[in-house]
Amino acid sequence: MFYTPENRDPSLKYDPIKAIVAPRPIGWISTLSLDGVANLAPYSFFNAVGGMPPMLMFASEGFKDNARNAVDTGEFVFNYASKSLSEEMNLSSANAPSDVSEFEYYGIETAESKIVAPPRVAKANAAMECKVTSVVETNDVEGNLTGAFVIIGQVVGVHINDDMLRDGRFDVNLAEPVSRLGYMDFGLTSDLHEMIRPDWKG
Ligand SMILES: Cc1cc2nc3c(=O)[nH]c(=O)nc-3n(C[C@H](O)[C@H](O)[C@H](O)COP(=O)(O)O)c2cc1C
Repeated sequence: MFYTPENRDPSLKYDPIKAIVAPRPIGWISTLSLDGVANLAPYSFFNAVGGMPPMLMFASEGFKDNARNAVDTGEFVFNYASKSLSEEMNLSSANAPSDVSEFEYYGIETAESKIVAPPRVAKANAAMECKVTSVVETNDVEGNLTGAFVIIGQVVGVHINDDMLRDGRFDVNLAEPVSRLGYMDFGLTSDLHEMIRPDWKG
């Protein structure tokens, strides 16, 4: 099968692209509005985009609260979405008004960040404090703006729940990250195998 996104094959009831680009890590992003309202929502258009300095990005389809707050204040926090917090993560995706804090509304406990102002999810197995370095509104092939915003931030502080550490490594078997698959599906990482990266021997 081949199709163009504007003319999806009618046999495909739902857009398969997010099921093809899967699993995606979930950036459970917290920000603080200029009025001091703490905001929390999941973003699976999310990833690490640099190692040193470490950089994270999330993309907002429309100028959603987290995108606006990150642009207004220059700060956001990544919170680790684990199996144990997946209900709270999903609840926090509801389209709450800007003046309502998902932390308060859903009773999600906060912890103070050390360097940036937005609070973090207290029970998250990890959190990364970020300062915004770039904001890009994407454009299509005709050059028209799409209304989607990519927010990139530099990690300036890393929190780790010490219980997730084994032999100096952050252990994903313990941390149990939840990933986003297509449609309404979520995944768990349960089958790890190690591969040693080869040296070029040519
Ligand atoms: C697992 C999951 C992943 C999501 N990923 C994104 C995303 O990458 N970009 C986006 O714009 N919305 C995404 N959403 C929807 C937002 O979480 C939702 O629109 C939310 O209300 C935005 O909150 P905010 O306006 O408080 O930032 C996702 C929802 C879920 C449940």
